[in-house]
Amino acid sequence: MTYQNILSTIDNGINTITINRPDKLNALNKATFEELGPAIQAAFDDETIYGLIITGAGEKAFVAGADISEFTGLSVEEGRRLSRTGHGVFNLIENGPKPIIAAVNGFALGGGCELAMACHLRVASENAMFGQPEVNLGLIPGYGGTQRLVQLIGKGKATELLMTAEMVKAEEALKLGLVNYVVPASGLLTKCIALLEKIHTKSPTAITEIIQCINAYYEDGVNGLETEINRFGNCVNTEDFKEGTAAFLEKRKASFPGK
Ligand code: COA
Repeated sequence: MTYQNILSTIDNGINTITINRPDKLNALNKATFEELGPAIQAAFDDETIYGLIITGAGEKAFVAGADISEFTGLSVEEGRRLSRTGHGVFNLIENGPKPIIAAVNGFALGGGCELAMACHLRVASENAMFGQPEVNLGLIPGYGGTQRLVQLIGKGKATELLMTAEMVKAEEALKLGLVNYVVPASGLLTKCIALLEKIHTKSPTAITEIIQCINAYYEDGVNGLETEINRFGNCVNTEDFKEGTAAFLEKRKASFPGK
């Protein structure tokens, strides 16, 4: 499939999706969302892909937010629909069966910070900047930012960042637990690939169950411990489990079939 606002490349089982509007600092407009969701779903459906990287085109920005030029004249209903669209795509990412890493290569503001937070892991380049500046616009985050920022860095600091619109540099984001690693820009994708390759040596079915169990912790009305019990049960019925335990007992490296 060809896209106008994103680039999608597959290399050695890793699908790199690049938000590609560098002249607008990769701001997420409606058309970009319409391509991003299907591109992510296509990666989930493609058995040759085991992991994803999401990044932004150019050296300046990961994503500088939702496209503010599309905000003018919105009705309440349209505003809610816009927010719901973002939630739909970001929930798809968060609940995805395959590991997804945000390679944050510059500004990750508003919807950009929210996109990064929806990914399972975040690696930032040294020049990355994070923030939720929506209150500058008379807005609040609309793509999960009020929830995922609290989940990642805790209520106190999240409240401060959401209320002050203050940006934090990559090193500060690392201290806050907002990102997993900070690396020089030249090594950003290499670090993401290395993380995915390490995860790929593990059981893919177990990785999918891990994602679901972690997300259950944050899901209203869902008992995460019960989810773990159920999904632990699922694991013992997989070929990955048979291979993993057999390999251990036979003192060899496991080769997981992913089923
Ligand atoms: N939506 C739409 N366009 C955006 C954008 C956004 N969120 N962020 C940047 N752009 C556009 C600018 O309008 C500009 O377009 P132009 O060249 O056609 O005028 C271009 O991207 C470059 O941005 P510019 O502001 O000139 O770059 P800068 O280096 O001076 O500042 C930022 C960089 C990130 C600090 C600044 O662009 C900014 O504050 N962006 C908005 C961040 C935001 O509020 N995000 C949350 C949205 S809800």
